[in-house]
Amino acid sequence: MRLPLEFAPRSDRNRTLDARVKPDAHVGGGWFDERMTDVELHPWAEDDLDLLRRANTHELMDQLGGPENDEQVQARHERYLRMWREGTGWQFRVTIPGHPEGVGIVGYWPHDWHGEPALESGWSIESEYRGRGIAPAAVIAMLDAARAVGATLPVHAYPRVDNPASNAVCRKAGFRLLGEEEFEVKPGVVLHTNDWVVDLVEPAVEPVERVEFPRA
Ligand SMILES: CC(C)(COP(=O)(O)OP(=O)(O)OC[C@H]1O[C@@H](n2cnc3c(N)ncnc32)[C@H](O)[C@@H]1OP(=O)(O)O)[C@@H](O)C(=O)NCCC(=O)NCCS
Repeated sequence: MRLPLEFAPRSDRNRTLDARVKPDAHVGGGWFDERMTDVELHPWAEDDLDLLRRANTHELMDQLGGPENDEQVQARHERYLRMWREGTGWQFRVTIPGHPEGVGIVGYWPHDWHGEPALESGWSIESEYRGRGIAPAAVIAMLDAARAVGATLPVHAYPRVDNPASNAVCRKAGFRLLGEEEFEVKPGVVLHTNDWVVDLVEPAVEPVERVEFPRA
């Protein structure tokens, strides 16, 4: 799977990604409001270690089973780089105008959904940039990026049931709620989550059954 080095919103998709479109437009399955911010996604790069260090707070990492020590953060950084090289997972630095260093992280990777192949996604935005619609814009851009490289599997997300901000992101990015699920984020760490899903392709239209008319 290959992505352009800088994934910026495509101009014909600006309706879905640009904060300046009319408030509360309903586009492509997601609700958008006037707080939506311009975002760009950049494939995970060598320079992104500090972004990962800034994300290693209790608040952000409690959703993933707790903060990591610096060695674990560096290992995660190497893993993100390796996953891109090997085509086994796609993490992005999220930037907004004036902040090329990144204000958050969004990504997706292969997932086993009850024995079915799927994708899983996750995200975080640094606390001082929250409440501006950056996460939903970034998630929508990520879904477009996945479509652009031909991904077709359903994309799941597992915010904790007690994480209203992240559940709101799912809703705004066009996911639908399947129900609650005990989700093992890492060995031995089970969280009580919601299971949200969004399709990357339109569901196939069921072929109309052939009808035999009796001969006159
Ligand atoms: C979840 C998260 C990514 C949302 O990012 P965001 O860019 O602030 O998203 P939004 O601006 O759309 O805000 C989402 C919700 O956060 C809440 N919110 C609004 N302003 C906020 C603020 N200033 N600070 C914190 N939360 C705010 C609101 O409930 C909002 O939903 P609403 O628009 O329906 O009212 C961010 O809160 C975060 O990084 N949290 C910690 C990590 C995490 O939980 N990751 C998800 C793991 S599944």
